[in-house]
Amino acid sequence: MKFFNREKEIREILSILEFEPNFIYFIYGPINSGKTALINEVINKLDEKYVVFYFDLREIFISKYEDFIEVLFEEYEEDKDPIELVKSLVKDSSVLFGIPTPKNTLENLLSKKKPKNVFKYITNILLELRKEGKQPIIILDELQKIGDLKINSFLIYELFNYFISLTKHKHLCHVFCLSSDSLFIEKVYSEAMLEDRVDYILVDDFDKETALRFMDFLAKNILNKKLSNEEKELIYSYVGGKPVLIIKVFNKLKYKDLNEILDFMLKDECSKLKRLLARVKIRKIGGVEYENIINALKLFKENYIVDEYIVDEDTKEYLIKKNILFLDPIESTLRPQSYLVWNAIKKII
Ligand SMILES: Nc1ncnc2c1ncn2[C@@H]1O[C@H](COP(=O)(O)OP(=O)(O)OP(=O)(O)O)[C@@H](O)[C@H]1O
Ligand SMILES: [Mg+2]
Repeated sequence: MKFFNREKEIREILSILEFEPNFIYFIYGPINSGKTALINEVINKLDEKYVVFYFDLREIFISKYEDFIEVLFEEYEEDKDPIELVKSLVKDSSVLFGIPTPKNTLENLLSKKKPKNVFKYITNILLELRKEGKQPIIILDELQKIGDLKINSFLIYELFNYFISLTKHKHLCHVFCLSSDSLFIEKVYSEAMLEDRVDYILVDDFDKETALRFMDFLAKNILNKKLSNEEKELIYSYVGGKPVLIIKVFNKLKYKDLNEILDFMLKDECSKLKRLLARVKIRKIGGVEYENIINALKLFKENYIVDEYIVDEDTKEYLIKKNILFLDPIESTLRPQSYLVWNAIKKII
């Protein structure tokens, strides 16, 4: 699938990269809004001055220190000098998924069991890359996955401290953290140690105008025919500007009728919501009251966006965890994770 638009966000990130590193950037937004796709598009546009270390925590089960180390490093059999190894590898590729590390060095790092040694090791490599005229960038996708991991103290705080030293203090390496977990972003946002050291980039679902243009783009690329304005408006009214849902509709349009597709998608979303409500009704979960959930969802009958403080903390947390609502801590707002969820709420409640 070809990448579409996001010119504004791409420009923003590229302009951040032109200056010396100063902040840790958090890229956040509703689920499936296109955060990962965007950062990959940015990576594709970088010139050879940049070296990207891309750590994807999504596919890895992280429950202990060793798991985290496994994400950070890629083991090499050769017993080369670590710096020479990295230097030789960045000649061929400007994106590395893990820091290439000789086997012996890695075993040594693991045996010490202290993040400090690991950070020192990484800093050394970054410094050497800078000496070569390269600008390193660290990207961590799905950072919330290590939010609860404890190694003596919480790993995430040690990591944040390290990132502050790389950006604000040493101006050595750009750092971007991606997360679709809005409860995690809220914690980051209210964390005193990060104040003035962090900035946020919202990657939202497409607005209406962009969503309609995305449909023209898909009509041409997937269907090889045009859609009428009424058809596009109808799709938008069901799934809004969430790229992945619009793509889903277009893929199905190859062999199915539009109304049938949209009705099925809404029915599916309604079933999921009904099942969730039924479960809350029969047994209280974590102090969440059925009535409170219903009352919170009722707020969305008339509005797409509400003030986050109208909803009590437990109910809010539950609905966010279940991917029904998205919290934007910077705007202090709550809204359904997608138009499809919104339509399901309006239909059921
Ligand atoms: N600008 C775009 N152009 C084309 N396709 C896109 C675009 N943005 C997103 N997509 C499509 O939507 C899918 C989901 O996007 P992506 O995985 O980047 O979202 P995400 O915000 O990272 O999701 P998550 O919340 O799960 O981390 C992608 O696989 C891609 O097919
Ligand atoms: Mg993602």
